[in-house]
Amino acid sequence: MAITSTFQPEFEFDYDDTLPLLHQYSIPVMQRTIYNKMRALFRVKHGYSQRARSWIGPGYHGLLIYGLVRKLLPRSVVDVGTCWGFSALCAALAMEDARLNSQVLTIDRSEHTDYGSDAFFDRLRRDKVFQVVGLSKQQLPQYAPVTIDLAFVDGGHSYEQVHFDATFLSRRLSPNGILMLDDCVAEYAGVEQAAREIEYEFGLTRTTFRRIAMFSSRPFATSLTQADKIGTAQLR
Ligand SMILES: C[S@@+](CC[C@H](N)C(=O)[O-])C[C@H]1O[C@@H](n2cnc3c(N)ncnc32)[C@H](O)[C@@H]1O
Repeated sequence: MAITSTFQPEFEFDYDDTLPLLHQYSIPVMQRTIYNKMRALFRVKHGYSQRARSWIGPGYHGLLIYGLVRKLLPRSVVDVGTCWGFSALCAALAMEDARLNSQVLTIDRSEHTDYGSDAFFDRLRRDKVFQVVGLSKQQLPQYAPVTIDLAFVDGGHSYEQVHFDATFLSRRLSPNGILMLDDCVAEYAGVEQAAREIEYEFGLTRTTFRRIAMFSSRPFATSLTQADKIGTAQLR
């Protein structure tokens, strides 16, 4: 199913199997704000956009996070691996756009301060982001909400780290919750192994969008990639 959009990133962006969910909620917003803004910021700071490309890539995870927050209206969102804040800010912006009175908890072992100052990001961070610096193994038990509606795991990519993060978050996932693991591809064998184990151990349904494995206790996830079925709003 081809989706037309006015979104014009600097490089090829294949919409053919992009979800209507993303189209409906994410793309115009991402264009106007975070995605382009962050890349522009990086160009200014570093003189070239390659670095921005390497860490946010085509931004699929941000689109997906934004779209899911808009659609699910989660009360609690956890983001493991803040880095420069792309994923956390995408969740934060969606919360703001959906007028959700929630915050995204984001954890990173180190604080990346290289993003410079930007009034828009500063405000979003202040209002919608709860940032914790430290290892996820130590900080999740201390700060994670008891029930988690949406979680994005993109911290340490070793099997042990992903397994810990994903197991911890799965235990707290609400009945309608979604857990996402980034980089679930062959080059990250540890992520793949942890994903297989989580799926089995918690009896979760899994689907993979680009390189993001998504888990849910409900069966909608399997049809999430079938664009023709999205209209039935199985997310609700
Ligand atoms: C791929 S980056 C995250 C990218 C970010 N989610 C985004 O959308 O731009 C991975 C981050 O995980 C952090 N990290 C690695 N191991 C970690 C751990 N055990 N606990 C917390 N953060 C960790 C790294 O410092 C790094 O900033």
